[in-house]
Amino acid sequence: MEDAVQTFMGKLRGSVAGETFVKMTLSKAGGKDRQLKNVYVRPVDLKGIRQLSFTLRYATRDEVKNYPPEEAFTWIKLWLGQDFLNGDLFTLQEDVSIQFNKKRKARLFSRPASITQQPSLSHDRPKERLIIGEENPYLHALGITSSEGEVLKSGQKKFRQINKYIEIIDDLLRHHKLPLQPRIVDMGSGKGYLTFALFDHLANQLGLNPNITGIELRPKLVDFCNGLAQECGYNNLRFLAQDINDYPADQIDMLIALHACDIATDIAIAKGIQSQASVIVVAPCCHKQLRKAMHCSNEMQAVLQHGILAERQAELLTDGIRALLLEAHGYTTKVFEFISTEHTPKNVMIVATKGKPNIDALAQIAAIKQQFGIEFHYLERLLSPVV
Ligand SMILES: C[S@@+](CC[C@H](N)C(=O)[O-])C[C@H]1O[C@@H](n2cnc3c(N)ncnc32)[C@H](O)[C@@H]1O
Repeated sequence: MEDAVQTFMGKLRGSVAGETFVKMTLSKAGGKDRQLKNVYVRPVDLKGIRQLSFTLRYATRDEVKNYPPEEAFTWIKLWLGQDFLNGDLFTLQEDVSIQFNKKRKARLFSRPASITQQPSLSHDRPKERLIIGEENPYLHALGITSSEGEVLKSGQKKFRQINKYIEIIDDLLRHHKLPLQPRIVDMGSGKGYLTFALFDHLANQLGLNPNITGIELRPKLVDFCNGLAQECGYNNLRFLAQDINDYPADQIDMLIALHACDIATDIAIAKGIQSQASVIVVAPCCHKQLRKAMHCSNEMQAVLQHGILAERQAELLTDGIRALLLEAHGYTTKVFEFISTEHTPKNVMIVATKGKPNIDALAQIAAIKQQFGIEFHYLERLLSPVV
């Protein structure tokens, strides 16, 4: 074992000295401190001095520590074969893995370098990597990364989508602060990709103590997500198998509904407004209700006779009226494309934050409805006791 460890440590030292060190991961926790799940190491330049930055991943939080190389090597040597049975070293020349069996006997493996460019050495990681590390354990369970934490080819699109979503939420919450223990409901949470990423980001990057509930009709997905939340030690992340219609509209600080089908988005928005949520984020899915309700008899009819154009018009009106209704209820809204259509065709996001009501919004909605022969918008009806 000594030989393998010495060779491994020698390669690590050599790569740091020769500035070819890219990163290192310690995994397969086998020590007494079962709370410590992984250690991720990367080089950083702090005030011009090269250090190694450690991210210690515990069940529910991350801790970042920076060490001068010699001190870093001491820690790594202490952990190897004791607290962690796997070490993966990535350098610009080769990838080296050390694996220990139950008897703590070590074997070394070497492969051609999988990373051939030195990543940023800035203390603040580039935005995309800061937001969500490939190493998050839930990503593996959700089929996005391999057991080594590398993003799988089949998981690339979802990974980019999750990153973009977290980037938007991160930016939003920097300008619109939530309470330290925000109550968040994700309506139509599905397999939970975005719910897990949100929990992880709020708890481990923004230092909040979030309480997140995912609501999902399909019990199998709910069981899967509850099991995974438990595995990750995310105690305040839970999933309920129920119709969002039945979820009480109270005590919600942030309401999320991503790709919830047709009127499910309206139900979610209504719950958000009724519970006075300070932030509402929705990415609508299909737009059937208004498509059927549009009966245009003016000159636009010549354009809307084409099915695809009528469909696009219905999308435009559905989401436009949603934004106006939110504004009528005292929200400031932004409607934008949140990820390129290359990744998902459902790419419009409506973000609403508590602000001042738009006093013209209801009149604007009435004029639009008249022009397109729309009797009612589903969200309007849900809110009608209030409007
Ligand atoms: C397209 S998936 C989106 C999942 C997830 N939000 C995402 O973006 O990855 C929509 C989910 O909403 C759920 N859903 C639709 N209507 C619902 C309702 N009324 N109550 C609860 N869940 C609903 C569906 O079962 C489905 O899993």
